[in-house]
Amino acid sequence: MQLVFASNNQNKIKEIQLLLPTSIQILSLEDIGCFEEIPETADTIEGNAILKANYVTEKYGYNCFADDTGLEVEALNGEPGVYSARYAGEQKGANDNMDKLLLNLKDTSNRVAQFKTVIALNLNGKQTLFTGIIKGKIIEEKIGTNGFGYDPIFVADGYTKTFAELTIEEKSKISHRGLAVKQLVDFLS
Ligand code: IMP
Repeated sequence: MQLVFASNNQNKIKEIQLLLPTSIQILSLEDIGCFEEIPETADTIEGNAILKANYVTEKYGYNCFADDTGLEVEALNGEPGVYSARYAGEQKGANDNMDKLLLNLKDTSNRVAQFKTVIALNLNGKQTLFTGIIKGKIIEEKIGTNGFGYDPIFVADGYTKTFAELTIEEKSKISHRGLAVKQLVDFLS
């Protein structure tokens, strides 16, 4: 079965393809000739996953799934949440986002945080949502070079290494996205 994954993020595509059975082949946005930026204007993680999946299905006619993820930090009332990608500003990158987060938590002993992923699947005219959550904490400095985004400052509960110190396989087994994809796979099989 071919299924469009509404992303061009090679890290995510690799992570997800690893978790899918070989019977499901992922097509990226590039593969279907979608080169425009898909609007992510909702104010919830669920809303953005739905916007992206619906954009592809309505405009290109494919069965499709889209994910949206946020890092929710307890001491910051759930921030950066749906704004995780642009926490430090539209033009800034992962390093700036992490620096801003570490600064905002500078004097805070409560480091509790979670990654939340929502996947919206549009399959044969029906929409289904899957949610994956991994709880953990934000450490005080960046450690590790694997992964992307906030990985160098996030340590999952029960682990001592950051997500950026885990291999892609180790991370995928326990991550928010991995958990949501597992539900997607169970649903599809
Ligand atoms: P997206 O909705 O999956 O694009 O994620 C939004 C933002 O959350 C990304 O730009 C990253 O900053 C962050 N993020 C998403 N997934 C991960 C992850 O697995 N590790 C670290 N940061 C992530």
